[in-house]
Amino acid sequence: MKQIVMVLAIAGVFAAGAAQAQSGADVVKAKCATCHEMDKKKVGPAFKDVAAKFKGDKSAESKLTEKLKEGKGHMKVAASDAELKAALQYVLSAK
Ligand code: HEC
Repeated sequence: MKQIVMVLAIAGVFAAGAAQAQSGADVVKAKCATCHEMDKKKVGPAFKDVAAKFKGDKSAESKLTEKLKEGKGHMKVAASDAELKAALQYVLSAK
């Protein structure tokens, strides 16, 4: 019994690690692509345009994280902090 618990615990740690290591591109595909495309306006603006808009704005990442997390001026996005960070870094680095 103890062994089973150990195995489950280890599997859990691996699963959490995998979720954290998810790339921004994966998060965008899974959570944002219904409304956003990289280079075309869809429901929301093209991420390339977003990157252009925030170019040189060092606080863009934190501002946008807030916006998406709290649902301020953007619908609340169901994603963890780590996922949002990865997604926004990916979006803001779009060219
Ligand atoms: C249900 C549709 C929908 C989903 C899902 C969605 N967005 Fe948006 N997004 C919009 C719309 C509409 C806008 C334009 C109006 C606004 O800012 O709310 C927008 C705007 C944005 C902007 C620009 C904000 C600004 O201040 O110029 C960013 C950045 C953004 N979205 C990122 C994301 C990311 C990252 C995800 C996925 C984690 C995501 N969005 C998921 C609809 C969506």
